Amino acid sequence: MPNRDYHAHRKNYQLGELNDSFKDVNPFELFQQWMDDAFENNVPEPTAMTLATVDATQQPHARIVLLKAFDRDGFIFYTHYESAKGRELITSKRAAATFFWPELERQIRIEGIVEKINPNDSDRYFQSRPLDSQLSAYISKQSQVVDSREALEQRMLDAKKELAGKPIPRPDTWGGYRLVAKRFEFWQGRPNRLHDRLQFSVHTTDPQAWSCVRLSP
Ligand SMILES: Cc1cc2nc3c(=O)[nH]c(=O)nc-3n(C[C@H](O)[C@H](O)[C@H](O)COP(=O)(O)O)c2cc1C
Repeated sequence: MPNRDYHAHRKNYQLGELNDSFKDVNPFELFQQWMDDAFENNVPEPTAMTLATVDATQQPHARIVLLKAFDRDGFIFYTHYESAKGRELITSKRAAATFFWPELERQIRIEGIVEKINPNDSDRYFQSRPLDSQLSAYISKQSQVVDSREALEQRMLDAKKELAGKPIPRPDTWGGYRLVAKRFEFWQGRPNRLHDRLQFSVHTTDPQAWSCVRLSP
C-alpha cells in the first residue's frame, strides 16, 4: 500500500463566490441555477446526492441516491420502500440530502420532511425506465441478505421468463419519496478556507417565505 500523506493534500478553492446579494434570492431558483451549472460543467453525476436518514436508535445512515425531479414542493428520488432507508424514512419522516460538485467547488445541503409520492407518479416513472432496470427493481429485496451473486442473477432470469412479453408491474414496495425542504445551505469554496455559506430557512407560518443568514465557514 502506498504510504500517502493525506495531510499534504490541500486544495485552495477559488472558482466562485456567494456575495451577500444572494441572500435575497429564492433557494429553489439558486438550486436550479447551480444544478444547471453542474450539467453545463460536465459534473459526472450531477444528480447524485448523499441521503442521510436516522433509525429508531438515532443511528444515522447515509448513502447515494439520484435526484429525479424537483420543484417547490420537494426533491424526488426513487427507492424500495422496504429497504433500510425506506423503513427509516417511514418511521422518522426526516432526511437530509447533500450534493457535492467538486468541479465547481460547491456543496448544497437540504434538510426536511419526507413523504411518499402519489403511486400514479411512481408508476409513470417506473414504466419510463429501461426494462432491465424495471426487472431489477421487481426482483430485488433491497437491503436484505442474498446468498450469492448467482442467486441474484437466477432470480433475474426466472423473472424474465415469468414475465416474457408482459408489462413488468411496479412492486408496491418500490416508488418515489419527496423531500420537502425546510432548510438549504449553499456552500461555495473560497481561498484560504474562508468559504461562503448561505443558509435559507423556511418561515414556520408561511411555507413560501424564506429567510437567509450567512454562516461562518
Ligand atoms: C451513483 C449511485 C446512485 C444510486 N442511486 C440510487 C437510487 O436512486 N435509489 C436507490 O434506492 N439506491 C441508489 N443507489 C444505491 C444506494 O446508495 C444504496 O446502496 C441502496 O439504496 C441501499 O441503501 P439502504 O440499504 O441504506 O436502504 C445508488 C448508488 C450510487 C453509488
